[in-house]
Amino acid sequence: MNVVVLGGGPGGYVCAIRLAQNGANVTLVERSYLGGTCLNVGCIPTKALLHAAGLYRTATVEAKETGIDISSVSVDWPRVQARRQAVVNQLVGGVTGLLQANGVKVITGEGRLTSAKTVEVAQDSGSISLEFDALVIATGSEAKLLPIPGVQGDKVITSTEALSLDKLPDSLCIIGGGVIGCEFASLYASFGTKVTILEALPNLLSGIDADVVSVIAAQLRQLGVDIFTGVKVEEIISSDASAKVCFDGSSVTADYVLLAAGRKPLTDRLGLESLNIRTEKGFISVDRSTMQTSLPGIYAIGDCVGGVLLAHAASAEGMVAADAICGKKPEMNFQAVPACIYTFPEAGSVGLTEAQARQQNIDVKTGIFPLMGNGKSLIEGDTSGLVKLVADGATGEVLGLHIVGPHATDMIAEGTLAIDLECTVDELTAAIHPHPTVSEAVQEAAHSVFGSAIHMPPRRK
Ligand code: NAI
Repeated sequence: MNVVVLGGGPGGYVCAIRLAQNGANVTLVERSYLGGTCLNVGCIPTKALLHAAGLYRTATVEAKETGIDISSVSVDWPRVQARRQAVVNQLVGGVTGLLQANGVKVITGEGRLTSAKTVEVAQDSGSISLEFDALVIATGSEAKLLPIPGVQGDKVITSTEALSLDKLPDSLCIIGGGVIGCEFASLYASFGTKVTILEALPNLLSGIDADVVSVIAAQLRQLGVDIFTGVKVEEIISSDASAKVCFDGSSVTADYVLLAAGRKPLTDRLGLESLNIRTEKGFISVDRSTMQTSLPGIYAIGDCVGGVLLAHAASAEGMVAADAICGKKPEMNFQAVPACIYTFPEAGSVGLTEAQARQQNIDVKTGIFPLMGNGKSLIEGDTSGLVKLVADGATGEVLGLHIVGPHATDMIAEGTLAIDLECTVDELTAAIHPHPTVSEAVQEAAHSVFGSAIHMPPRRK
């Protein structure tokens, strides 16, 4: 069977490998870099820069608090940037090698559907036509430009440009206090940049549990970030050296303005309309059990289908599509897609938030364990966070886990498994957690659902 995959990000390349493992003859078409947004201008480079920012914080603040005096610390920004690129290059090289080892043919060019069985690939040297039995669209998304006067100005950047600024900015104004906004705020504020966040909604990080958001907002403020919520940005006025953002009768002037107000799907140049492939607000509509579009034989995965715009969700969808195409029964639990936020401290979240569970009229019980009572967090000098477990009071089933604190993005995997396996609170408390680790706080949060946390005073009657 001949299968063409359009797009080589974490959706497309994982799908291509799984298709090859399933015995298909696979061609992957990518117009720029293998690894897509995630590896090249998303998850990986941001986390590489955030790692450097974390080291700088350790050297300048945490080391002193631990009794280690470091006499002189400075940031060599070009070297920080070079390491970021080296990490990216190594991972892109790895993906290239994996595709090759699995026998996937990679073609550079931009694909466009010309019929239900052919795709035309535009290359520098002309265009070629490929025939397929099945096609997977995995073309991803790009930063959304807001309809604000002045948004095209020179000093207005997206997360892509914000990754490779040639020097550390003195000031940065971020429009949008979602995941991208908060991560870049943490990154640049840690290096000493004066950061302002302008968010349209009443709170940062919509969709994340309110108790987690409170901790992240407080820590951002402690880093010196000015946060304005519930604002309407009216205009951006760029000059040679800076840009002024006008909002609600006030303004902020900064070296750069970072647009972090969501992403839009890259689907408008694929020829979908001519084949009547159904879309909604640009996102391709699919049957989520197989990832097939409204046209049989054409599948779509990742950011271009909407839902959760996360690399690991795209990869999971890629495996579902590959198995469906090859006649296998895809198995994936999309009820439990973890989300990670790489702020200081970092956060991990899976399942229902308390507010979402209450909206569903569930008899909600929650257990919160503040990391102040966790030895490992104290040792690591970061006790500002907490673990919150959301459960169904009637059945004891774990519905959500929300962690903000050291290692939260690694620890959240326990919550994913718990929700996947439909664990109860009792099953979580019965599982012995290692000491001393931050993961003990998950067990304590589970205990605290029924008021029996060991390392927390009993609730007053
Ligand atoms: P987002 O949807 O998370 O946040 C965008 C924010 O901008 C929202 O809070 C929204 O209310 C606000 N906004 C929209 N228009 C505005 C306006 N005119 N003025 C002020 N605020 C405005 O989108 P974001 O942060 O751009 O991230 C895009 C996607 O990438 C998300 O789905 C996110 O989950 C994903 N991502 C995931 C990461 C991770 O897993 N660690 C890291 C970065 C991004």
